Amino acid sequence: MRFQSLVFILVVLLASVATNQADFVDVNDPHVIEIATFAVTEYNNQHTEAKLVFEKVMSGVSNVVDNETRYSLTLSAKNGSASNNYDTIVLEKSSENFSLIAFALNPHA
Ligand SMILES: *[C@@H]1O[C@H](CO)[C@@H](O)[C@H](O)[C@H]1NC(C)=O
Ligand SMILES: *[C@@H]1O[C@H](CO)[C@@H](O)[C@H](O)[C@H]1NC(C)=O
Ligand SMILES: *[C@@H]1O[C@H](CO)[C@@H](O)[C@H](O)[C@H]1NC(C)=O
Repeated sequence: MRFQSLVFILVVLLASVATNQADFVDVNDPHVIEIATFAVTEYNNQHTEAKLVFEKVMSGVSNVVDNETRYSLTLSAKNGSASNNYDTIVLEKSSENFSLIAFALNPHA
């Protein structure tokens, strides 16, 4: 009985975390595309040898914490002639203030 109610509480907690936090983004939303192009431009700025060319957003989620929106996007970009998928995280503090938190090759693409 005790174990079952503990499992029930965990399931409820996890479900509420999932519904409160992450929303799937519309990959065609111009704002989502702006966030993704920012990630690629910023990555190129931080890595002088990199010349990635943004292609499209594959999938992503966003969640809002303390007025900041965190976008976790998988995007495709061209690296020379190769088209790769990259996993990125961008934090949006305001409409003019984005920061690139993470940018990594997704090896499963
Ligand atoms: C969020 O934004 C609102 C309106 O701009 C502001 O009043 C509030 O203090 C902000 N909250 C945080 C946690 O920054
Ligand atoms: C782009 O391709 C070059 C050459 O293969 C490789 O060295 C580099 O790590 C790649 N960069 C990214 C961000 O995938
Ligand atoms: C953007 O956010 C950073 C970190 O919070 C802050 O230092 C900077 O002043 C902000 N820039 C603008 C243009 O709001």
